[in-house]
Amino acid sequence: MNNILHVENLGINFGGLRAVDNFYMDIYGNELVGLIGPNGAGKTTVFNMLTGIYAPSEGKIELMGESIINKKINDIAKMGIARTFQNIRLFNNLSVVDNIKVALNSSHLYSLKDSLFRTKKYYQAEEDMENEAMELLKIMHLDDLAYTLAANLPYGKQRELEIARALALKPKLLLLDEPAAGMNPKETLELINTIRYVQDYFKVSILLIEHDMNLVMELCKRITVLNYGMVLKVGSPLEIQNDEEVIKAYLGN
Ligand SMILES: Nc1ncnc2c1ncn2[C@@H]1O[C@H](COP(=O)(O)OP(=O)(O)OP(=O)(O)O)[C@@H](O)[C@H]1O
Ligand SMILES: [Mg+2]
Repeated sequence: MNNILHVENLGINFGGLRAVDNFYMDIYGNELVGLIGPNGAGKTTVFNMLTGIYAPSEGKIELMGESIINKKINDIAKMGIARTFQNIRLFNNLSVVDNIKVALNSSHLYSLKDSLFRTKKYYQAEEDMENEAMELLKIMHLDDLAYTLAANLPYGKQRELEIARALALKPKLLLLDEPAAGMNPKETLELINTIRYVQDYFKVSILLIEHDMNLVMELCKRITVLNYGMVLKVGSPLEIQNDEEVIKAYLGN
């Protein structure tokens, strides 16, 4: 099997707080893996280390065999790790299609001069970006909303647009931080279908943080449980659901 992500002995301190300690994880091609745990367990901190927002105090992170440690956020994104955020981060005053174009911008280069003087190169790059963005929106079934302002989208669609924007970077590994947070049951069901479809269509590996246990159990083949910054258990949904230590951690004993 081809190893997409390999993480070993990952740790980080915030002052006196050991937020993540000896974290490990392997994700293989096209796998969908869950990362769960009580509030404050360190899940988002793991994402922040995988995307270069935080520099780990120690440990290994390799994407397809290449270390991402000490690499810049943009370089890690180019290497193939894209994410969504626990609190939606969209450009609210831009349209849906423009939110995608912002993400595409780095791959369609034109100079400041091209932009200022509106050269042929500028118009060509703009047109290519628009076409590529519209194509992605079609795949994600968001094309009928292309010219709606992100702020005016229903909540569930904002979450889906964030996923689409992450996919614009053509990631090998997609990190989703609580994509179902704040969704109603109908939106959650749609999201489950969207995530399955994305995994299948883009052949991307997905690491999913989520508190909605139905969603996690439904989607993930393998789950890592984090508690107080440490791996408490790795297993199948069935193993995790029936594990006494996991149940205790969630009940706060
Ligand atoms: N930049 C930071 N500086 C100091 N402490 C931090 C920082 N980021 C996170 N922490 C702390 O690290 C711990 C883990 O936080 P993290 O956000 O990773 O938890 P989480 O598992 O994502 O929780 P939740 O389910 O509530 O989102 C918490 O105690 C948090 O307060
Ligand atoms: Mg979090």
